[in-house]
Amino acid sequence: MNAGIIGVGRYLPEKIVTNADLEKIMDTSDEWIRTRTGIEERRIASDDVGTADMGYEAAQKALKDAGLRPEDLDLIIVSTVTPDYPFPSASCMIQEKLGAKKAAAFDVSAACAGFMYGMITAKQFIETGAYQYVLVVGVEKLSNIVNWEDRNTAVLFGDGAGAVVMGAVSEGRGILSFELGADGTGGKYLYQDEYIAMNGREVFKFAVRQMGESSVNVIEKAGLSKEDVDFLIPHQANIRIMEAARQRLELPEEKMSKTIQSYGNTSAASIPISMVEELENGKIKEDDVIVMVGFGGGLTWGAIAIRWGK
Ligand code: UT7
Repeated sequence: MNAGIIGVGRYLPEKIVTNADLEKIMDTSDEWIRTRTGIEERRIASDDVGTADMGYEAAQKALKDAGLRPEDLDLIIVSTVTPDYPFPSASCMIQEKLGAKKAAAFDVSAACAGFMYGMITAKQFIETGAYQYVLVVGVEKLSNIVNWEDRNTAVLFGDGAGAVVMGAVSEGRGILSFELGADGTGGKYLYQDEYIAMNGREVFKFAVRQMGESSVNVIEKAGLSKEDVDFLIPHQANIRIMEAARQRLELPEEKMSKTIQSYGNTSAASIPISMVEELENGKIKEDDVIVMVGFGGGLTWGAIAIRWGK
């Protein structure tokens, strides 16, 4: 039995904050942000919209796309580092909002690699036959933990949610291989105290190396070569980091998802948000081999090779 994606959805707050808006509140420039990160604008959720609210919106769309009812779900996994409360978990709050009475629910904390950790956890439950349908949500309200007086971090992040419903798919399709990893010795480079604190240069060096290595590793584990890859969905943290992964895979520009200009770094939500965008753009097609790869605080990383389709 192969686990794959059978429905997708996303939610983005309406409020757009441009680089020009940030120039008005801190010592930064549109030019610096664009050239160093690739970001042009980001979405910021209003005060009355929480993490679970955004996750619920994305989840509802994913369920509809899968043609399932909330009661069909066996498990809800929410990848987030910005839950509304330490407990109840975001997953329990989303379970209630959906009315997914049958579903077990827990959160996964792996920062920007969280969606990879969530999907790979879901895969285990499906492929052992324990559960039929698992909802995986990546959602962040990073605006809650950004220090708006710290230009080193404030310009990078945004809010949003993406979700997939996973279940058994036909032979040859679904998750072909994966890699997960962690290096706690690098925890000091990216953490939350009150606000997000980061040593940008150290995280950058780690990310460039890890994104490339993990992408290549999952292709090899799947018994494929670089030429077999149809599309790359990297975690959207910095265009220069994403480019390093793309070049390592020797893919042309049009074969990499690039949504960072519109949404900034949405941590665990960036991969599923980009996935929905590329499906809408027609860039992901049935039977395409897609590589998804992410890295984040912890430090953590994860990658998946998947053959698209049910
Ligand atoms: O999902 C994981 C989250 N984290 C990341 O992905 C971060 C990875 N790291 C990066 O993306 C990059 O390191 C940054 C975008 C954070 C920084 O880019 P950089 O090219 O590594 O810049 P830098 O840290 O070397 O800083 C260069 C200069 C510094 O000025 P001085 O000391 O050379 O005079 C900074 O103070 O740029 C300055 N600077 C800014 N200037 C204008 C830093 N932030 C800003 C800013 N606007 N927002």
